[in-house]
Amino acid sequence: MSQAFDFGPLIPAGLPPPAVRWPGLAKYNFTGGNNDADEVPVDDLIAAATASLKREGRNLATYNVAHGPQGYRPLREFLVTKLKRDADIACSADDILMLSGSSQALDLVNAALLTRGDTVICEKDNYQSTLTRFARIGAKVIGIPLDQDGMRMDALAAALADCKSRGVQPKMIYTIPTVQNPTATILPEQRRAELLRLSEQYGVAVFEDDCYSDLIWDGKRPPALYAMSKAQNVIHIGSFSKSIAPALRVGFLVAPWPIMSRMLPLKTDAGSGSVEQMMLAEYCAPHFATHLPVLRKALRAKVETLMEALNEQFGTAAEFEDPKGGIFLWVKLPDNVDTMKLYQAALKEGVAINPGNEWSTDAKHSGSRLRICFASPTHEQIREGVAILADVCRREFGVPTRSGNVERRVSG
Ligand SMILES: Cc1ncc(COP(=O)(O)O)c(C=O)c1O
Repeated sequence: MSQAFDFGPLIPAGLPPPAVRWPGLAKYNFTGGNNDADEVPVDDLIAAATASLKREGRNLATYNVAHGPQGYRPLREFLVTKLKRDADIACSADDILMLSGSSQALDLVNAALLTRGDTVICEKDNYQSTLTRFARIGAKVIGIPLDQDGMRMDALAAALADCKSRGVQPKMIYTIPTVQNPTATILPEQRRAELLRLSEQYGVAVFEDDCYSDLIWDGKRPPALYAMSKAQNVIHIGSFSKSIAPALRVGFLVAPWPIMSRMLPLKTDAGSGSVEQMMLAEYCAPHFATHLPVLRKALRAKVETLMEALNEQFGTAAEFEDPKGGIFLWVKLPDNVDTMKLYQAALKEGVAINPGNEWSTDAKHSGSRLRICFASPTHEQIREGVAILADVCRREFGVPTRSGNVERRVSG
């Protein structure tokens, strides 16, 4: 038997650690940003794919179906109308770049603006993948605390002043202002104006990640930072992952040409998938606006089931805010609960959660917190999964002492 080739010596220094093989989805999966399977508009997507392929399928012979490196133009034109209507963004199709998910935007913006040792500012509790990207680049991250209205502007002002006093020029403020991940907070208009004022005062770029903004229960949102900015120092990104389906892998970026023109050469994949973009353009123009309220209603029902289940199983041991939208609940358990250990123990029982430490710049603050995605499990799975989680938590940490209105004997 020949010996397996050893790639080890060929691997350059600084690569991320090797991946582990995918273990499959947990039976009760509360992790990731997955969506509600019942709400994927499958029939309308089939019709849209068929119609667009019949009409324009021959164009697949040309990269980007001959619409250029910024992506399929009718989808960009749909976004121009949508972004104006929903977020007050005035832009043209030439200001939009279609991407393979907004994840690709995180890579492009970081690659265009950051180098090792640079300082970035972001909400303290944050999207894990953003934090790991900053860590990989070697950026210094300043986490700004949040309250019920998102990033605290007094803390942002203090952080910027502190940087200045130390001679540090931060490169950008990365923010998820509209249904923040994981806290689900929405930054009010006044704070948006203050954030922009500070960014201009200190000469910092703003990176606005708006991928959950379609999922606000009442559909009302403040204008985007991009729309409010006069200095043109904002890059805005969005996604169809949360409004339609994440497996499509279609996201987008809106940016002024001076920075767009620096990011385009960094997108070296010869274009994001055109079939998805064609299908979405065909689907969205007639259906997007009517699909959203249906999706939001389904998500709202799920978070109500989740909050009910947590109240029933954990009682006052689980603290959380009723979210205004989105797919996540950010939950605080008693200080003695280490959610990293809880995560490991719960996984053995088939329940997957996101431990707080992976979603924050502050381990002390987040060690007893967890993020629960309620969009993808069924109502039944939510009830059963939370009951199992409470049992595991009681066994490992002695809390909750009460659940399901039944007093439990805690051993040890
Ligand atoms: C805040 C935030 N930004 C970006 C993304 C990336 O999403 P996608 O690449 O699917 O558009 C996610 C996904 O969960 C997210 O939560």
